[in-house]
Amino acid sequence: MDTITTIRDLKSAVSAARAKGQTVGLVPTMGALHIGHLSLVKRACEECDFVVVSVFVNPTQFNNPEDLRTYPRTLDADIALLSENTGANVVFAPTVEEVYPEPDTRQFAFGPIAEVMEGEHRPGHFNGVAQIVSKLFMFVEPDKAYFGEKDFQQLAIIRKMVKDMDFKIQIVGCPIVRYMDGLAVSSRNALLQEDERAIAPIIQATLRRSVEEMQYKMTPAEVISWVTKTLNGIEHLEVEYYSIVDGLTLQPIENWGDTEYVVGCITCYCGKVRLIDNITYKVSE
Ligand code: PAJ
Repeated sequence: MDTITTIRDLKSAVSAARAKGQTVGLVPTMGALHIGHLSLVKRACEECDFVVVSVFVNPTQFNNPEDLRTYPRTLDADIALLSENTGANVVFAPTVEEVYPEPDTRQFAFGPIAEVMEGEHRPGHFNGVAQIVSKLFMFVEPDKAYFGEKDFQQLAIIRKMVKDMDFKIQIVGCPIVRYMDGLAVSSRNALLQEDERAIAPIIQATLRRSVEEMQYKMTPAEVISWVTKTLNGIEHLEVEYYSIVDGLTLQPIENWGDTEYVVGCITCYCGKVRLIDNITYKVSE
């Protein structure tokens, strides 16, 4: 596995693979890699001949400077994890100057899907994600790119961007990797205090209860209020939002019958740590 830091070297490594007739997969990450990321890389290695994993803490998607400053940076450990556990061919770990020699002034407009949930609570976040992911797509021009369903709205926005910009890239959504206790694996979990880590799984457990016990007995609005009250009643937990939405348009639904694909998306603080998760209420058969 090669570690590459410049766009020029990245392009020549990809061209060499293409010259051999290989298919190319891309897994964008911000590093601090864990088993969730590795599941994406492994899937990419199964489906593509040549796999690029990018490790870049993208400053333009952070709307909170403190969050950017404290974001874990563990490149050596990331490289070791990838080379020992996956068949990735290249780690692309550029500097900020390499990616943004000049400030990226591009403004993306994705319409309603980007205006709700994370789009509403983290202004500018998805514009930054689109800036970096579109650049990575232009550098690598992969056949397939892999994203986790944990960041449900991000995945929907990337799919929209691919359509809007006419990228010839297949976007592969990968299932959420969880610990045995149900907590979604995340780089941010490392920031939880011991007592917070112990209660964090209640978030997913509560969403699960809402699917198994509440759905159809209550309206979506009542379920939202039950989930919010239940979680806010637990020490350390504070719900920023819980939305029950159409899984394709990401717009809130009023009735379970409004659409065939219904997903609940939550952002909940556990102490000072902002955790996101989601659950599927129903999918069309
Ligand atoms: P990051 O948070 O590092 O996540 C990289 C990819 O890993 C994302 O597609 C995310 O959804 C996926 N992922 C993280 N935890 C996961 C889990 N437990 N199960 C499955 N997939 C998981 O998302 C970003 O970085 C950035 O916004 C990025 C797309 C790289 C642009 O900077």
